[in-house]
Amino acid sequence: MSVGIDIGSKTIKIVELSHEGGKFRLKASGVVGHQGKTPEMVKDDKEFAVLSDAVKKLHKEAKISSKEVGIALPETQVYTRTIKFPQLTDAEIASAVRWEAEQYIPIPVNEAIVQHQIIDRREDTSPPSVSVLLVAAPKALVEKYARVVEMAGLSLASVETDLIALVRSLAPSDQTVLLVDFGGRSTDIAVAKNAQLIFSRSIPTAGEAFTRAVAQTLGVEESQAEEYKRTYGLSATELEGKVKGALEPVFRVVADEMKKAIQFYQADEKGDIPRSAVLSGGTAGMPEAASTLTKLLGIEVVVGNPFARVDVDPSAVKQLAGFAPLYGIAVGLAMGEA
Ligand SMILES: Nc1ncnc2c1ncn2[C@@H]1O[C@H](COP(=O)(O)OP(=O)(O)OP(=O)(O)O)[C@@H](O)[C@H]1O
Ligand SMILES: [Mg+2]
Repeated sequence: MSVGIDIGSKTIKIVELSHEGGKFRLKASGVVGHQGKTPEMVKDDKEFAVLSDAVKKLHKEAKISSKEVGIALPETQVYTRTIKFPQLTDAEIASAVRWEAEQYIPIPVNEAIVQHQIIDRREDTSPPSVSVLLVAAPKALVEKYARVVEMAGLSLASVETDLIALVRSLAPSDQTVLLVDFGGRSTDIAVAKNAQLIFSRSIPTAGEAFTRAVAQTLGVEESQAEEYKRTYGLSATELEGKVKGALEPVFRVVADEMKKAIQFYQADEKGDIPRSAVLSGGTAGMPEAASTLTKLLGIEVVVGNPFARVDVDPSAVKQLAGFAPLYGIAVGLAMGEA
């Protein structure tokens, strides 16, 4: 059994999977909204208690059996870089990363946890090269997450980043795609090639900004704006397209960032382009979001299903209906631990 917990700024999600005979099976899942602060913002014991109580309650109510859990660090708090090395051995790369990490990350190496993955070895470049994904996170951040988990009566089995987990649950193994986690506070964008994270970026424009835009432009309360956003989204006909009009300028900011990610990858990889974009997160459910992005980006955009490779009981399918896009990170974490 393996468990993933995704602590977002708006919701906490939990997923438990079993892994037998090469197949994943959904054992339990749950999601809860929360008003508390996320671990990186938590400062005193009281705030730690609020958050860890929410995690503990969700773990209990979702009927999760294992107490060993994996968590993901928010993309805004970690540093992810792809670095090209000459053809070195794995051991040589490991030591080069250790010695050179300083120049790639903006925090002192002794205050960071630095990990790397070899993305691919290429003979067709001249000279031949090795692409390496470097991920660094502040130790203090990891300690905060560990504290939340421990105060919830659980134990920390693994730590990853949001996009590394998302790539595992949503990226196809034989294609280059754009992955977008469209959350509450931030939109995280990744390029994944053959299920490997190549490029990542995070912008602080997501669900909250959309709701604010609707509230300000239409002069309504936030709660009303939230409802308009969820019900009408980018539809041109509903409410005479007023909600769409309010959302559009903010939506463009996000679409432009996706375009930039595609261009950046294209320039670097000369020719290979993401063939489609896969959306996850609560904001992926906004009416007409995927179809509008298809038009703006000129590639196919779909809302991803992180349970595509997971056996799910028919009764649970019903329960998940509409919520699947929320679970991308939690599913990816649980898959990674198996
Ligand atoms: N049907 C919908 N249409 C538009 N927006 C929606 C819909 N359902 C949920 N949302 C938005 O999704 C956001 C929450 O998504 P999610 O749970 O993925 O965020 P989070 O993981 O807590 O945030 P973050 O990862 O940014 O910290 C909220 O801003 C909410 O308004
Ligand atoms: Mg999130």
